[in-house]
Amino acid sequence: MRPRIVVTRKLPEDALALLREAGDVWLPEPDRALPAGELHDAVAGADGIVCTLHDPIDGALADAAGDRLRVVSTVAVGHDNIDVAALAARGVVVTNTPGVLTDATADLAFGLLLSVTRRLGEGERLLRSRTPWQFDLGFLLGTGLQGTTLGIVGLGQIGTAMARRARAFGMSIAYTGRRRADADVEAELGARYLPLDALLRESDVVSLHCPLTESTRHLIDADALAAMKPTAYLVNTTRGPVVDEAALADALARGGIAGAGLDVFEKEPDVHPGLLELDNVALAPHLGSATLQTRTAMATLAARNAVAVLRGDAPLTPVRG
Ligand code: GLV
Ligand code: GLV
Repeated sequence: MRPRIVVTRKLPEDALALLREAGDVWLPEPDRALPAGELHDAVAGADGIVCTLHDPIDGALADAAGDRLRVVSTVAVGHDNIDVAALAARGVVVTNTPGVLTDATADLAFGLLLSVTRRLGEGERLLRSRTPWQFDLGFLLGTGLQGTTLGIVGLGQIGTAMARRARAFGMSIAYTGRRRADADVEAELGARYLPLDALLRESDVVSLHCPLTESTRHLIDADALAAMKPTAYLVNTTRGPVVDEAALADALARGGIAGAGLDVFEKEPDVHPGLLELDNVALAPHLGSATLQTRTAMATLAARNAVAVLRGDAPLTPVRG
């Protein structure tokens, strides 16, 4: 029997073609985020599920799929939406797409940093509101990055790519995380390892690149924000719940920190209304990996992972539970 492959969101054609070679593909028409009830119904009898980062995939969903389910392949590097242990207990392999979105995400993180420190959003809003303006030497002054310190939380692939960009802008690098980076990575980046509290106190920019887990949920809360310099900026391109968004909106409004660049939000697609009122925040709607090249590479890798498991081969990039 041909495997049944449930794809929760429309994928680039190349990826769909790989899946269609391997099995019978079902996907929602028209493309939309499936509400939980519809997702449960859709997966019944699935051998494989190809999902995205907002689909909650837990043991109950695997049970709704039934005993044929062998693989859940997410088109994302972050897999906080998937209960990997519950799936492993049911013999289901989970795969993600590391590596292929590293540069795109680091580019976007650095873009948000430039946007907020050079006040690009404010400038654009000023022009679009047709407010009269004139060049003068004090007009819309921002903050230069040269000679400042970037504190990276989570020096994985994306954190390292962010640090490389920062080095090219003349920044020095500090980092924190569960473990020390390899000595050659530390040497290449000139990166100093610091505990989180010291990193927050010393950095001019704090950029988040850790995954969302129970230990990183609200890692950046009111106390963490209070530890940062009032002149410091926060960049978040990982997952919204790593930051207490209400505490961040409050710190930004009070001048507790200087600004923020945010690509992710606690309750996507909603954004804390306080953030929308503030000029010292650069906002993007979860665009970290959103280039044509990167999304094609992610979807193709996700499809190859699903096909490999369905054929009885080892997946290319399994998530280890
Ligand atoms: C995007 O947010 C991803 O995890 O791939
Ligand atoms: C994943 O690619 C990471 O940032 O470690």
